[in-house]
This record gives sequence, structure tokens and C-alpha cells, in this order.
Amino acid sequence: MYATEFLDLPPLASAGGTVVLPGSKSISNRVLLLAAMSAGTTAVHDLLDSDDTRVMLVALEKLGCRIRREGAVLHLTGLGGKLQDTAGAAVALFLGNAGTAMRPLAAALAVIGGQFELSGVPRMHERPIGDLVDALKALGCDIGYLGQEGFPPLRIGTPRLKLDDPIPVRGDVSSQFLTALLMALPLVATKDIVIEVKGELISKPYIEITLNMLARFGVAVRREGWRRFTIPEGSQLRSPGIMHVEADASSASYFVALGAVAAESQPLRIEGLGRASIQGDIRFLDAAEAMGAQVKSGPNWIEVRRGAWPLKALDIDCNHIPDAAMTLAMMALYAEGPTRLTNIGSWRVKETDRIAAMACELRKLGAKVEEGPDFICIEAPAGAGAWKAGRIHTYDDHRVAMCFSLAAFNPAALPVRIEDPKCVAKTFPDYFETLFSAAQPVVGRVPVICVDGPTASGKGTLASQLAERLGYHYLDSGALYRVTALAARRAGLELGPSQEQAIAAVAAKLPVRFQGERVELGGEDISETIRTEAAGMDASAVSALPAVREALMDLQRGFKTLPGLVADGRDMGTVVFPTATLKVYLTATAAQRAERRHKQLISKGISANITSLRADLEARDLRDTTRAVAPLTPAQDALLLDNSLLTIDASISQVFQWWDDRQPFKPASLQAT
Ligand code: DC
Repeated sequence: MYATEFLDLPPLASAGGTVVLPGSKSISNRVLLLAAMSAGTTAVHDLLDSDDTRVMLVALEKLGCRIRREGAVLHLTGLGGKLQDTAGAAVALFLGNAGTAMRPLAAALAVIGGQFELSGVPRMHERPIGDLVDALKALGCDIGYLGQEGFPPLRIGTPRLKLDDPIPVRGDVSSQFLTALLMALPLVATKDIVIEVKGELISKPYIEITLNMLARFGVAVRREGWRRFTIPEGSQLRSPGIMHVEADASSASYFVALGAVAAESQPLRIEGLGRASIQGDIRFLDAAEAMGAQVKSGPNWIEVRRGAWPLKALDIDCNHIPDAAMTLAMMALYAEGPTRLTNIGSWRVKETDRIAAMACELRKLGAKVEEGPDFICIEAPAGAGAWKAGRIHTYDDHRVAMCFSLAAFNPAALPVRIEDPKCVAKTFPDYFETLFSAAQPVVGRVPVICVDGPTASGKGTLASQLAERLGYHYLDSGALYRVTALAARRAGLELGPSQEQAIAAVAAKLPVRFQGERVELGGEDISETIRTEAAGMDASAVSALPAVREALMDLQRGFKTLPGLVADGRDMGTVVFPTATLKVYLTATAAQRAERRHKQLISKGISANITSLRADLEARDLRDTTRAVAPLTPAQDALLLDNSLLTIDASISQVFQWWDDRQPFKPASLQAT
């Protein structure tokens, strides 16, 4: 996940390959609750790992379910409708901000009975639950509020169930109330139980998912239209043994669009769901096809490639696919003529006012947008010259963030800045990583920032922190020379010109792996071993050998992948990445550097002498700057930064500013809205 302030997407050119998408949130928590209430063990495959499912699992464990993980499979042994005896003490369950956990759990526990207290984060205590509580009370449940009337936290006791009369539940507030009752009542179906929906039922596709899941757990609910549901006498939840959680159909929409826009030479394959999905948003496929996508699908996969190009504009009622319809608004950027999405009034009351948000951000890109109370009409920028580099505000709305990544395929090859990219965590924490695994950048457009300089100039700290701030990869090229020297020593080689070819052969096949701060050689953690002064001297010796430098070239250039790279070393700007976007040459006086190195060693408990450190450092500088190949010297177009008197933060801010000044994004205040 990218937890950066923003994520700049370089211009993207094409897409292909295979993506595996995370499980559907709606299906995941339904499966967990049903498996928990069933007798027997359910092996749940491909469960979504998100905040909502995590709190559900903790709660279920507290209720006595047994949970065991085995790779990607979660084995959940249910309660068979009976809770463990808590000897009268109330069981307190904390459910975070997960509505999909709070509502069905409240219903299930209220009909089974016991002593429970259900609470959540402050925002959860502002989300209404009165309609569900009223329905449960009408049924004879002992349930009440611990705080404000109509809202969690809730208290639950032992019910005296009255199952003879139809149970009324409102359908026009949230379909989750009906879902909760449908999942809870099979636990007490000693006779036919009837639920009657009051008001127009919204979000019918979600009720279909509930009914479908119940059927998988052995309960066949009878339905008369969308008004009356009957749970037959003798119904019992039974584990189906194995449950596969489908991938999320709304999440799939971004990759369907990706295929339609950018999969030219090979299709983009989406694994985890197929056209026969039980999720309503799967109907997005029809709309994407109408715009020109070529779609093929099998039982658990979809393949999409570009068909018509440019895409065909559409005028479509989106009531049945409210979430995925946002993706159509992005596809409209690649269509000829205006695309009109209607009957999307519900967008206004989602995570944010999505009609206003989409209109505002699409305009930043140069699109012509018209909006109304329940529609939006989008016309692509008129030609490549009309596109603008957008700084996209995401409104803490995961779908806005995911949608706007699709703008990176713009014909003007402009980058796109996505603010607060971590908001995708709501449903798809690794969205951008998945996108980068399937998309290829416009050739030569992956940004590289080079930070070169002498030893102990602070370039490692600066470069790695800058990489973290931008969400870019980080290459510590010095570590590669250090690892090469270590591997060569272990191979019994002498670190001089006489063994140049042999050391180069070691460098070419270096089994090195970077895991954050950790450096591994053939699986062994050598992070500490390569950080000694002696290892630095060894590195300096092997780095003077031209064949070794050449042997490490491909490995270093391989770090230049989406979304960008910050590389530190001696020759990043001069030799390895000569066309880098920004080159910084970092220096500090020898005295300063010796002092810093001294502090560093002391803090690690290694004794050191400042005078000899300085002498070593100057010897190393001399060797690095006077060697025949790739000597340490600033690239012609490098910006010099002497940080002798600067704090680390000040140096980072300076380089960050240089970087940002080179971006085409206008300050937020100057953007068209
Ligand atoms: O940055 P460092 O101290 O970890 O580097 C160790 C040695 O590797 C340094 O003395 C010179 C060499 N080196 C190099 O020649 N080229 C690079 N790009 C990085 C390091």
C-alpha cells in the first residue's frame, strides 16, 4: 500500500498479463458469519484481508469460533448456532467501523441470546441502526442502546422469540438490515419465519448475494417478489466445506477498463471472478462492451482487450451498477463524443458527493463535464493538446483514487498525481501495486532521481527517505558493491585486478535481495556484515574494476520500474541513469562526514576514532574520484547540494522541492475546478 501524501503516476502506454484481485467485501463477511453460525469447518479461500474482515474475525474468535490459517485458506470451525457459556459475563465485541460486521452480528447474537456488548469507533456510533433494532425487538429480542438511541453501542440479552407474525423490516434505508435478519433467522427456524419489507427495497443485488450465500449454506429462502421472504421451518445452516470468495466485481471494473483502453497486443486477464458472478457490478461488463471492450470469460476469469478505438460514447442508465459506473466516466476520456451516465443520484450520498467529485477532477484533466442532480455527462479533452496534468484530489474515496489512475493513459503522455493514495485500502489495499504489475509505462518515462556523492555525505539517508516520501523504489548501489566484495571474498577471491573477471562473474549472478532495510545474500541476512568500514574499503576496491561495474549494470537498471526510482551511489547520474529526471550531487566537508560516521558507529556500539575515520574516508574519496572507470564526479546537469550545515529534513525538503518544480502539476490554487 502507498501511504504517501500523493502518488505520481508516470504516463502509461499499454497493459497485459494477469491480475488476481482481492475478494469481495460483501461476500467475505457474509461467508464468515454464516460459517461461524454453522456446524462444521469451512475452508474459506481468497478471503478479503481488510479492516472490515479483520474485526469480524477477532469478534468471531471471541465468540468461540476456531480459526486456523493455512496459506491463503482460512479454516473456520463454526458454533453450530450455540455459543460457549460465558458464566453470565457480557462478551464485549469491538467492531471498528465495519457495518458489514456490526449489523449481521447484532442480529445473529440477538436471536441466539446471551450477554453481549457491541461497539465500534466513534464514526460507527454515528451510523444508524435503529431500524434493525426495531425489527429485532418486534421479534422478541432483548436488545437496547448503551449510548444514544438509534445508534451503537448496543447491549444484547436473552430473547423471548415471537415467530408467528411476519417480521417487518424497512428496505429503503439499507439493505444490510434485511441481510442481517435473513442470515440470523435460520438459527431459530422452528417454524416458517416470514419477513416483510416495508418501503421500496434498495440495493437488490446485495440481497441476491445474501440469498445465494444462504443457499450455499443449506438454507433455501422463499421469496415473493422483493416484499416477502420466508425462511422454511427446519432450516439449518450447514457448512458447505469449502467456500471460494469471488473477487470483487467493482474492483474488477478498473482492470476491465484497463484492458479496453490499453491491452492492444495481448489481453489482460483478471482472475477471481467470471461473467456468472453473483455480484451486481458484474453487469459493468455489458457497458464496457458497449463502449468497445472485447471481453471473454470463463468460470473464474475474464479476459479483456481493446476492441473499438477510440471507445464509443454511451448514454446509459447506471442504476444497476452504481459503483462500477464511475469507471465508465473514466472510459469516457477515451471515447468519441459525450458519454452520459444517468440515474446515479446515489453517487451524491456515498463516501463523498461522487458526482461533484468526478466532475471537478475530470475537468482538471481538460474534460468537458456537465452534471445534474442524478447524471453526469463527460466529453474527452479535444485532442492531445487539450489534456492537462491533473493533481487529483481523492476525497477519502477509494473509488475516486482507483478511477483516476486510468487517466495515466492520456495521449499527451502527462503524469497524473493521485493525492492520498492510501484511501484505496477500504477495499483494495494493493490497488496501485496490481496496476503497476499489469501496466507498462511510456518508454523512457519512469522517473529516476539520482543522488550521488562521496561516502558519508548522507546520500543514503536522503535518497531512501525521498523514495519513501514519493512511493518510489530505492536503489542503494553502494550496497551492491559491498555485497559483491563479500561474495567474492567468500569465494576465496582476492579483491584486485588479477581476479577481475572472476569477481565480475560473481557480480553478474549475485543472489542479492533487498527487503526494506534488510539485505540478503542467498537468503542470509548480511545487512550488518556489509556496513563495516572494512566492507566499505573492500567495496571501493572491487568498484574500481571495469568488468565488475559492467556486470552490475543490468541489475541496477532493473530497479527502474513503476512508479519511479531514487538511486544513490557514485555514478548514478553519470553512467547508470544518464537521462535521469533529476540529478543531485550531495557533498559535505570531510570533517563533517567523519563526524557523522563517528556518531553512527558509536550509536551502534562500535568504537571508532574520528581521526582515523577521516583518513579512511579521504583515502576512499581519492580512490573513488581518481579511478579510471566511472570516477566519482558530479554529472554535468547535476544540482549541487552541500549539506554540511543542513539537517537531514532540510536537505530532503530542498531535493523534494527541486523535484516538484520539475513536475507539470499546477499548484492546487491554479487548477481549473
Ligand atoms: O556508498 P557506499 O559507501 O555504500 O559505497 C561503497 C563503495 O562502493 C564506495 O567506496 C564506492 C563504491 N560505489 C561505486 O563505485 N559506485 C556506486 N554507484 C556506489 C558505490
